[in-house]
Order: sequence, then C-alpha cells, then structure tokens
Amino acid sequence: MVARRMGNVPESGTVKISNVVSKLKLEGVNDIISFSMGEPDFPTPENITNACVDSLRNHFTYYTPSAGIPELRQAVAETLNKRNSIPCKDKDVLITPTKQAIFMTMLAMVEEGDEVIVPDPSWGTFDACARLAGAKVKYAKVSPDNDYRLTPESLAEAVTPKTKLMVINTPSNPCGAVMTRKDIEGAAKIAKEANSYVMADEIYEQLVFDGEHVSISSLPGMFERTITLGGFSKTYAMTGWRLGWAIAPAPIFKELNKLQMQSITCAVSFVQNAGVEALRGPQKAVADMKKEFKARRDLIYDLTMEIPQMHCPRPHGAFYLFPSYDIDMPSEDLAAYLLEKAHVALTPGSAFGPSGEGHLRISYAASRKDIIEGMERIKKALATL
Ligand SMILES: Cc1ncc(COP(=O)(O)O)c(C=O)c1O
Repeated sequence: MVARRMGNVPESGTVKISNVVSKLKLEGVNDIISFSMGEPDFPTPENITNACVDSLRNHFTYYTPSAGIPELRQAVAETLNKRNSIPCKDKDVLITPTKQAIFMTMLAMVEEGDEVIVPDPSWGTFDACARLAGAKVKYAKVSPDNDYRLTPESLAEAVTPKTKLMVINTPSNPCGAVMTRKDIEGAAKIAKEANSYVMADEIYEQLVFDGEHVSISSLPGMFERTITLGGFSKTYAMTGWRLGWAIAPAPIFKELNKLQMQSITCAVSFVQNAGVEALRGPQKAVADMKKEFKARRDLIYDLTMEIPQMHCPRPHGAFYLFPSYDIDMPSEDLAAYLLEKAHVALTPGSAFGPSGEGHLRISYAASRKDIIEGMERIKKALATL
C-alpha cells in the first residue's frame, strides 16, 4: 500500500498528549497550562510584522529565486559572519524553513548503507528524517552528568566506518544543553578523522544564558563539511512564519537548492522581506525576550528542584528543562496523568529517543504566573502518586 520507508518513521510521542488536550477542551476544560509548545509566547516584534504588511501592500506576492531574495541571503551571511565567524558568502545561504532544511539535508546527504549520528535524547525530527532518507541512526548518548552536552567521547563511541553525517544541536532541544568550545573542537576533530559531514542545528543560538555559542562551521577546515541550520522562529518569535536558512559549501548547496526547486520552489516571498527587517532592524526585542527567558529559566529550575521526584541539571540555553523522575510509570502515561489530573500539558520524554524515557520535557515559553501555578499543580499531583 504505502511505501516501505514509512515503516521506518516513528509516530510522534506527542500525539497522545495532544489527543487528550483536544478531548479535555471539547469537555469544556479551559484552565490548561501548556508547557508543551516549543515556541516563544511573545508576539512577533512590530517592525517585523510591518515589513511583511508593507511587502504585501507592495504586491511582493510572487515566486522569488529558489534560494531566496538576494537581500535576505546577504543579511544572513553578514549576520553569521559577524556574530559566529562562519566564513560564508551570500551564495552559500539557502532561505527555507528550518525543518525543511533538515529534511532536505538528510535527503541530499544520506542513503541506505549510511549511518547518521544523532544525540540521544534529542529532537525527534533528526531521527525521523535520517530514517526517511534510508540511513541507519546511531545514537550518541548525552548524560545529565555532563549537563546533557554532546561530548567528543560520546560522539567517538558512535562513529563507525559507515558514519556519513553527525547531528549537532546546540543549544539543544529537549535538554537546553550548550556545547562548550572544547566540545565543539572535539566534535570537529572526530568529524574530520571519520571523514563525516556535520549538520549543525543552531536554531537556539541566540538563547544562550551561560557560556558562549560556538558554530562548528567557524573552525578551520569545517565549513567544507558542515551544513549550518538556523532560523527566525525562536529568536524573533516567528514560528508560524516558516522562515530559516541552511548554509552549505557549494557542492552541497547545489543539491539542497535542487531539492528546494523541486519541492517548495522558494520560501514565502513577503515573509522573506520580514526576515530582512528582523536581521537588519532593531534587536531590542530579542534582548528583552532573552532576558525574560533567562529569568524564567531560573524560576522554573528552582521550582523543579523543590519537587522531590524530579531531577535535572540547570539548562544553559533554549527554553526547555528535561527532568528525570523517580516514578515507576512510562513518560507518556505520566504526561497523560498530569494533563488529566493537574491540567498541565508536558511532552513525554519518550518522544526524544530511547534515553528520553523516564523524563518529561518542560517548555518554559510560558508566563511567570503560569510557571508558578503549573509547577505547583505538578508538585501536588505527583505527591498523590
Ligand atoms: C532543534 C530544532 N530545530 C529546528 C526546529 C524547527 O524550526 P522551525 O519550526 O522554524 O522549522 C525546532 C523546533 O522546535 C527545533 O527544536
């Protein structure tokens, strides 16, 4: 009936939770606190919205070049050049939604017989797209003992002669881990020795609260073997706009652009103009959101530590916490229990790879009031188990 490859794609572990949310809403329950969404709860900054509206009014509503409008490619290249020392030029930048970039990178880079190293736990899309492309997934374990950072040691353990691509995601979803410069240097060394490519998902790079963000592509000899992904969703509260980028050396860029031409053609025209404003306009909103996320990180971490059954290292970036729990229950069941009993929506850890079981992902893209109330409800509900 359907293609065999579909059997390789796991179902989303979040579906169960969203089904229960829908059921509760139908029953008229409207006091649900959501810690499940991976998106900022702030409005998109006004100047960005205005740039989009102006663009629409000026009838910028047609196909653009497949790789994106020149102004945006230039703005992305300049920004990453200056901010992260990535030695990229306009011609290396493909404008596309970040998730689309992950899908296209896997399709372009790997096939049957290849292995892709994926951190475990990590965001499920990496795993799913690698499998869809026909590759085998090898997990590189990350541990709370190292603040869930992907260490060179863990990467080295997962390398085999079949390794074709390594996925690096810093700051990380779901752990909020930030790789150190030493980690990144170690990863680069391993990639070179294994003659592997790297897909560096840096979508949370503007949300580093402690330490620094290091782009692996900025290290000597790494630009040629790295596809760097980023986007507007998390930094500028633009998840629904579907805008991001892939930066790749010429031979890989060419293949990604072919996939773009044959799939979505180009990113949405007027949204690309908003992207130029986001990168070139005032950055105060970004600083304000980061400050608020940091305050929430501190608040929710302290509140989590007050729950005797939960344990986790302090996350250093993104907007997630990934606590383990001392309760003998699968994470999907515990998330369903907390939703039904406490009306708090969380994502079960099992959605993030084999080591995710026994954990819950808490997104603190929620107001401080909701964080205080939600964590109190979780504490009470767990106490009755
Ligand atoms: C690590 C990571 N990369 C990429 C994305 C996708 O970004 P977008 O929705 O902008 O395509 C997400 C979204 O949650 C993410 O967590």
